[in-house]
Amino acid sequence: MASVRFDHVVKRFGSLTVLHDLAFEVQDGEFLVLVGPSGCGKSTALRLLAGLEEVTAGEIYIGERRVTHLPPKDRDIAMVFQSYALYPHMTVYDNLAFGLKLRGTPRAEIARRVEAVAATLGLKDLLQRKPRQLSGGQRQRVALGRAIVREPRVFLMDEPLSNLDANLRVQTRAELLRLHQRLRTTVVYVTHDQVEAMTMGQRIAVLNAGRLQQLAPPQVLYDHPANRFVAGFIGSPAMNFLEAELTADERGALWVVNGALRLQLPRERSPHVETPRERAVVVGIRPEDLTWLPDGEALPGTTAPARVEVVEYLGAELLAHLRLGEHTVIARLPGESAVRPQAVGTVAFNTAKLHLFDPESERALT
Ligand SMILES: Nc1ncnc2c1ncn2[C@@H]1O[C@H](COP(=O)(O)OP(=O)(O)OP(=O)(O)O)[C@@H](O)[C@H]1O
Ligand SMILES: [Mg+2]
Repeated sequence: MASVRFDHVVKRFGSLTVLHDLAFEVQDGEFLVLVGPSGCGKSTALRLLAGLEEVTAGEIYIGERRVTHLPPKDRDIAMVFQSYALYPHMTVYDNLAFGLKLRGTPRAEIARRVEAVAATLGLKDLLQRKPRQLSGGQRQRVALGRAIVREPRVFLMDEPLSNLDANLRVQTRAELLRLHQRLRTTVVYVTHDQVEAMTMGQRIAVLNAGRLQQLAPPQVLYDHPANRFVAGFIGSPAMNFLEAELTADERGALWVVNGALRLQLPRERSPHVETPRERAVVVGIRPEDLTWLPDGEALPGTTAPARVEVVEYLGAELLAHLRLGEHTVIARLPGESAVRPQAVGTVAFNTAKLHLFDPESERALT
């Protein structure tokens, strides 16, 4: 096992800078997820760590060792890709054993490791089959097993579940977590799926356009996003954003105002940065921090008149699209809520959960 460190890594392809000054550390034994939209540089970061690409500037460390210019085979890592290719003419056993044979591992040691991995991944009864005789999920497990038998210091995984159907993905997700709890090997796991990131990562590094936005445990990302990008990327449906004015009244209380919407900001949500008395802000509120009051019992400072546009019923919960002046916000409500399309009522904000962002820099102000 080993820690991993990116030390101010820059990667350019010609004139295109794909990673800007990437600096972060993965702790020994940690399951770290690298998440971000398509094209943000996740695979490139992983390929640099694996040694499949050369850095333009900066250094990469695995444990105490600087590996920046070491070839892949000397880095003691194993990588699982989205498109894993098993050898079609070999049995599962031989697929698992192949890498070890190449390295000249003694036969008895190979047998011991393959048996152990097959037991861990539920492949014991499949060892004599060929890949074409396996389901997609079983093949996926063989690909994973091939990485595990090598007993590397770090696992790198690039969207390893994206070829699986939805059910199998959820199942394999849990299997991977159980496996990590047992092996305690450092994992760097890449995905563009924020649900996968939230459910799997001990900590999550959010990347956008080649820049690290925030690195934190899932709950910190969710409750205290560092900027508007992270706030909008983590969580589904996404956080609602409204443009507003932040003003102080004569008693010093802070309000966010946009037309009929007037919310009083609780003291603990006051901006932590020095702000002028009046300024433009972007207000963020998550769908579950809104409630619907059909009879319009309004509380000053926390509610606004609204009209229901559309209701998406999901069973345990429903998503109500609410028209609020010029804006539409989405509220996540219990499935049995009495909300009908076109109904007029009141939307209540849990103001203790309001987020404020700077419209220019997009940084969090709360
Ligand atoms: N060999 C290359 N030459 C030139 N540009 C490249 C090369 N490899 C990647 N890029 C560019 O670098 C950027 C980041 O690519 P990368 O594959 O790291 O994205 P990603 O975050 O893994 O995206 P996805 O979620 O779609 O897999 C993209 O704009 C891509 O076009
Ligand atoms: Mg990729």
